[in-house]
Amino acid sequence: MSYASDHTPSQTPVLVTGAGGFIGHHLVNYLKDKGYWVRGVDVKRPEFAETRADEFELLDLRRWDNCLQACRPAQTGEMAGTPIAHVYALAADMGGMGFISANHSLILHNNVLINTHTLEAARQNGVQRYFYTSSACVYPEHLQTTADAAALKEDDAYPAAPQDAYGWEKLFTELLCHYYTGDYDMETRTVRFHNVYGELGTWEGGREKAPAAMMRKTAYAKLLGGKEGEPGGTPTVEIWGDGEQTRSFMHVDDCVEGVYRLMMSDYREPLNLGRDRMVTINELCDIAADAAGVDVVHEHVDGPMGVRGRNSDNSKLREVLGWEPEIPLEEGVGRTYAWIEDQLRAKLDAEGRLPAGGDGAAQTAAAPAQS
Ligand code: NAD
Ligand code: GDD
Repeated sequence: MSYASDHTPSQTPVLVTGAGGFIGHHLVNYLKDKGYWVRGVDVKRPEFAETRADEFELLDLRRWDNCLQACRPAQTGEMAGTPIAHVYALAADMGGMGFISANHSLILHNNVLINTHTLEAARQNGVQRYFYTSSACVYPEHLQTTADAAALKEDDAYPAAPQDAYGWEKLFTELLCHYYTGDYDMETRTVRFHNVYGELGTWEGGREKAPAAMMRKTAYAKLLGGKEGEPGGTPTVEIWGDGEQTRSFMHVDDCVEGVYRLMMSDYREPLNLGRDRMVTINELCDIAADAAGVDVVHEHVDGPMGVRGRNSDNSKLREVLGWEPEIPLEEGVGRTYAWIEDQLRAKLDAEGRLPAGGDGAAQTAAAPAQS
């Protein structure tokens, strides 16, 4: 009998760290739908919707005592006293290129503390399965220097040469999980996410990734005309660099499905989880503009670029899970754009900046999309 069918979700308490964040919040919902008893832990509550976790604790997981508390048995309801069986470790100080290229020390310091303490606290509490969320940022920079770079296979990670401290920390914790499995007979699963986007994700403030940034800037151009920060005139979106850098993007619904499938599998090595359709950031911007129903001009400006080209090789993912992410980018962006436009409308309305007569861009749009 496989592990997936060998345990009863309703009698299996699980912990999700980073449950106040983007993927963690969606994962809590996914696990609740499956019938699990869920504890969520984070330094903040989810920003855009109430959590459905059975227990939600505000804890700073850089601290050892807090990690022990996070991993202790269930405290409430029928499950009180039952040990946590699974940990999904998502807590991290992270963001898009704007954040990770400017906070190397903070990221390395905070995330090493969070991950070493959470993993050891899970072991001391007898956790059976531990899920670690690594990143495509572990792959060597020299394999990602052209926009048409070959898709990255799991074995490409070594010899190691990630671009940023963020990638080094992820590699370090991948190894820690590997050694815990060997030394302590603790089941660990490690995923390497490729750029995840979707509703209820960070869409402003500096930590947002390219999809949310393109959609927010498009929404500003549509609702106020001009560009974010300079309303009026031709709808315009600022893009860092020449926009010809490439990435692949995965919707969060595919992400949490893949996370669960990997957790239930018997595969112990790091596995890519992403879509394998490479698009340029200019194309991503045009997909957002199509979702908004507005023509925008691209304005290329200086900004942190990260690697030049990145894509996921999903051969191993298909082999291991018999499945891969399937939500088309246009569909996922359509859903996400609608949510981001709603967020922006509410914000502009509260600030008294929403034009009474309709969308600014609807009155000014003329220029076709261009790169
Ligand atoms: P997120 O920033 O929305 O969520 C991370 C959460 O961790 C946040 O809510 C944050 O408050 C919490 N956190 C930070 N420091 C903490 C601390 N000291 N104690 C407790 N909680 C703390 O990010 P996300 O997109 O949901 O990412 C989840 C995981 O997936 C992270 O480990 C991230 O590195 C990894 N990942 C995400 C992507 C992506 O594209 N979103 C790509 C690669 C890897
Ligand atoms: N964030 C952002 N904002 N990126 C922009 C913008 C903008 O306004 N304009 C253009 N870009 C470009 C960046 O310069 C980069 O070349 C590309 O879009 C992708 O940027 P991000 O989405 O911020 O990051 P990333 O894909 O390089 O890395 C992200 O994904 C990794 C996993 O694949 C980050 O979130 C990492 O933390 C994550 O591990």
